[in-house]
Amino acid sequence: MVSFQNIILQVQVMVPVNINHRMKKLLALIQVVLASLTACVVPPSHRAHAPLDEDRVGAFADTVNGKAVKLYTLRNKSGMAVEISNYGATLVSIHVPDKDGNDGNVLLGYDSIQGFYNGKSYFGCVVGRYANRIAKASFKLEGKEYHVPQNDGLNSLHGGINSIDKQVWDVRVMNDAIRLTTVSKDGDNGYPGNLKLTVVYSLRTDNSLVIDYTAVTDKPTVLNISNHAYFNLTGDPSKTILDHEIKINADAFTPVDSTLIPTGELKKVSGTPFDFTQFKKIGKDIDQQDQQLIFGKGYDHNFVLNKTTGTLPVVEVMEKTSGRKMEVFTTQPGVQFYTGNFLNGTEVGRGVAYQQRTGFCLETQQFPDAPNQTAFPSTVLKPGETWKSQTTYKFSSVK
Ligand code: GLA
Repeated sequence: MVSFQNIILQVQVMVPVNINHRMKKLLALIQVVLASLTACVVPPSHRAHAPLDEDRVGAFADTVNGKAVKLYTLRNKSGMAVEISNYGATLVSIHVPDKDGNDGNVLLGYDSIQGFYNGKSYFGCVVGRYANRIAKASFKLEGKEYHVPQNDGLNSLHGGINSIDKQVWDVRVMNDAIRLTTVSKDGDNGYPGNLKLTVVYSLRTDNSLVIDYTAVTDKPTVLNISNHAYFNLTGDPSKTILDHEIKINADAFTPVDSTLIPTGELKKVSGTPFDFTQFKKIGKDIDQQDQQLIFGKGYDHNFVLNKTTGTLPVVEVMEKTSGRKMEVFTTQPGVQFYTGNFLNGTEVGRGVAYQQRTGFCLETQQFPDAPNQTAFPSTVLKPGETWKSQTTYKFSSVK
């Protein structure tokens, strides 16, 4: 289709170098008129990268270590908009309509980029090089022992401090997608190999946010990459997520010890508070006197996803008051279902101090501590191999 933008481009290309001054002025005027027409004809909400709010663009703009930090927006024609920062390849907000067509932000986040610099809860960012925990912050790979930062008691959590979630990623803006890349250097936080990571966020017209991850290394390494978005489908993060109903297509989960390291067992969910094979309110069993729930202060566990045909969601979440529904699809073997148990009012954004259980995460992933647990699927990546994974969060609403 010939758009006004294309016409403008063509007019620019066609301008000969020796054109006279009056003609140049006339062409410049035509360009201005066409640009204004574009602005009138295509409403901002239908422009793929139009910001939601210019003030926010300013609040999320900065320079870190000489690199520009910016806020990018993806919009589709079905009323969905996603804000992304290249700091930590972070999802800053996700706007989706409710059952009456009213817009709402379903993501926990901050009001400026400073919030993300100081944040301790991994809001919306990409976590790695090893998402989740590595026991005693060490592992063996090809006979050699590696030590990574102890930032969760004696264990290592989400790759350590100043990991990929605190780096400024390079960006390429595409039609309906934002592509982010970073290189985590050999030895970064103790991990071997220069790891080149790419994350592409694509927004489809069916209100799916598709996340494609790719990684390559120049030395054998271990990796587990995920996104740590916290959702609250009511759109109001002062409310808890306990009345959301969730269905997880997993017959087993990986129980943990008191430091949240898997014991190695794959435990059947049947007959336990971890049975979400049918829709159940998140809050229904969360306060049961169950050892696993006590260790996690709620749900903070890896679910072993049943093998599906790939077209079925692995998780579905329903929030009845707004009518919003979220479906999760993934190529990963596990998902960490975390109910925001450590939120305690110290993180502030969107006019609220985020309290315990006001957001839930569905971190699609390899299994926690897999580098130390030989029975778990391997997380080793070797030179010459390309690691790929895809996760989709799809939104809809039901009356
Ligand atoms: C993950 C962990 C939780 C917690 C959060 C961040 O989801 O499993 O235990 O550390 O990250 O607060």
